[in-house]
Order: sequence, then structure tokens, then C-alpha cells
Amino acid sequence: MLKRFTVSMEDTLLEDFDNFIKEHHYQNRSEALRDLIRGRIIEKEWQAEKAVMGVISLVYDHHQHQLQEKVTELQHDYHNQIVSTTHVHMDHHNCLEVIIVRGKAGEVRRLADSLTALRGVRNGSLSMSSTGKDLH
Ligand code: NI
Repeated sequence: MLKRFTVSMEDTLLEDFDNFIKEHHYQNRSEALRDLIRGRIIEKEWQAEKAVMGVISLVYDHHQHQLQEKVTELQHDYHNQIVSTTHVHMDHHNCLEVIIVRGKAGEVRRLADSLTALRGVRNGSLSMSSTGKDLH
């Protein structure tokens, strides 16, 4: 059920908000505000190490010495958090790996950071989602 409430803000902030709405193609202020609030609450849940699902994506050069082995080894260390991994051979040098993860936000973030920190990994990214409930 939707509830209404009134929000007060400065002209300039409201102007920025309306520009944000246009840029992101929101239908109205309510929808934009709901998304922003959800985003912030999810962020807080990450910090609280609640259960999340996430996607880690990596681009790396498989010719880099032992990188492929390190990427695989790290994933075995986190086998409890990894749901699936898809490997795409982008071209002669580059590989794209997309890893779907589920677990405590802290663990998921540690895995993403460790993978991204490996020498030869480019464009490492992590996105997380939470339903607000325990996933297990
Ligand atoms: Ni490959």
C-alpha cells in the first residue's frame, strides 16, 4: 500500500532532483525518490553485512602469467558464495568473467576486491541487490 507524505527542500536541490529525474527517465518524483531511498537502504544493508545477491564482472588478459589460475583459485576459496560463473573469450587476449554470488555483503565484497586487485584484471565491478530479507 502506498502512503503519501510531504517533503520540503530548497529550490536548488529540487531543481537538481528534477534534472536527475529527466536524465534517468523517471515517470515522476515519487518513483525517483523511492529508488533513491531503496538504494540508500541497500547500501546500509551492505554495511550491516546482510544477505545479498550480486554480480561480479571482470575483464582480464589470460596471457598474464598465472592470472587464470589465480582467478580460479580465489573462486574455489569462495565456493560457498558462488552460484555460477560464466567465462566468455572476448578476443585473442581478453576474457570476460561474470560471477553470480550470494552471501553476506562483506564476504561478497571481499571476493570482488580480491579478484579486481589481481595484476592484469581490468574493469572489475560488483553490483549487489538485497530484498531486505535473509536469502538463505
Ligand atoms: Ni577466455
